[in-house]
Amino acid sequence: MKLLEERIKKDGKVLSEAILKVDSFLNHQIDPQLMNEIGIEFARRFANDSISKIVTIESSGIAPAVMAGLHLNVPVIFARKQKSLTLVDHLLTAKVYSFTKQESNEISIAKKYISENDTVLIIDDFLANGQAALALAKIVTEAKANVAGIGIVIEKSFQGGAEILRKENYRVESLAQIASLADGKAVFK
Ligand code: G4P
Repeated sequence: MKLLEERIKKDGKVLSEAILKVDSFLNHQIDPQLMNEIGIEFARRFANDSISKIVTIESSGIAPAVMAGLHLNVPVIFARKQKSLTLVDHLLTAKVYSFTKQESNEISIAKKYISENDTVLIIDDFLANGQAALALAKIVTEAKANVAGIGIVIEKSFQGGAEILRKENYRVESLAQIASLADGKAVFK
């Protein structure tokens, strides 16, 4: 997606060979117009897949997921990383290990929001090692729903996630694919 690549070039900050900072438009301050275009692009790519629900994970997946939900006209569910006081029973859960943060989280979604009749599009902001997307796919599968695909805003192709997900036969649609963050700049695939 050209608009997104241009924005990453203009406003993204390469913090290291592995980390791209995009908190001026994606995961702290959010640019609603860019998110809207991202939603339109996800909706275009999954227009013929009979998507009935979108599933994402808090917090930075929510903005692009909501915009995709708006344009596909389907509800959006986000997995919680912390147990909510009101979300006490009937949970679907999965463990996510973050290599970046070196910690494990249990994420959860209320069972009542995903059923076996659902065709689900999973959306997230970053694809690094693929652990969050795999955990979301596990939850969707546990609900006996179908995973139509995984939509990613920024894929860091030099980390293992995209390959792991594609090996598991998931359709991965990434709007920007970064081949390298070496020498302080993002190089797109
Ligand atoms: P994985 O799910 O693909 O295995 O990713 P990983 O554990 O490595 O990522 C942990 C967190 O770090 C995730 O956010 C992910 O979006 C974020 N992240 C990974 N690589 C980058 C990067 O290059 N730049 C930025 N800005 N973030 C990155 P999170 O902890 O769930 O945070 P949030 O969704 O609440 O913002």
